[in-house]
Amino acid sequence: MISATPARAGGRFVTVEGIDGAGKSSHIEALADWARARGVDVVLTREPGGTPLAERLRDLFLHEPMDPLTEALLVFAARRDHLRQVIEPALSRGAMVLCDRFTDATFAYQGAGRGFDLAVLSQLETWVQQGRQPDLTLWFDLDPTEAARRRAAVRSADRLEREDESFFTRVRDGYAQRAQATPARFARIDAAQTREAVRADAIAALAERGWFPQPLSPLPATDDRRA
Ligand SMILES: Nc1ncnc2c1ncn2[C@@H]1O[C@H](COP(=O)(O)OP(=O)(O)O)[C@@H](O)[C@H]1O
Ligand SMILES: [Mg+2]
Repeated sequence: MISATPARAGGRFVTVEGIDGAGKSSHIEALADWARARGVDVVLTREPGGTPLAERLRDLFLHEPMDPLTEALLVFAARRDHLRQVIEPALSRGAMVLCDRFTDATFAYQGAGRGFDLAVLSQLETWVQQGRQPDLTLWFDLDPTEAARRRAAVRSADRLEREDESFFTRVRDGYAQRAQATPARFARIDAAQTREAVRADAIAALAERGWFPQPLSPLPATDDRRA
């Protein structure tokens, strides 16, 4: 059972969001490395997926045609397994869970993108998450035209990535609405910048929370011979 009162004193739950091609996967490892250098136990995972069962559901979700309710149910079924098997146990032992997409993506893609009933998604969110929410969401925000250009340069599209630009404009608006609803949880990262600037901003957003100790092996001070 997921505890009715999640162990909030335990680890930190950080999610990374944004439309396809915004740069989430490119930067998530650097965020994990930054936290690990501070002695933090980091669990790097993704949605849909993150467990053997959820990865099988992901495969169906990404490649089989289905109606919006089936899509929403599949993604929440995968999320339920992921929470029980991976996320809640990691948070309970004090780890930081760093997850490539979570429920904001469901509201943005299935809700804003597909037009699926947001009240139904909220109900599923309540049932499946039992109060669990990310502590911080790094939202990689990028113009859909630029995101499509970046995607086209490197990979063939899955079922969702084949959607047109108007779909991704709605998804982006969906993320903006989620950020507006809970601004304290969100950090918007301007993903149109260079990779280096995006990485620096994402790390700064994490560091700003003040959750992490100093690095385990700090660089020696340059003026340590002055005495
Ligand atoms: N700041 C950036 N500037 C230019 N290209 C980028 C930047 N960040 C990522 N990319 C490239 O864009 C493509 C999509 O990035 P990716 O991390 O896979 O996006 P996502 O995981 O959000 O779908 C990759 O080829 C990646 O190398
Ligand atoms: Mg990705």
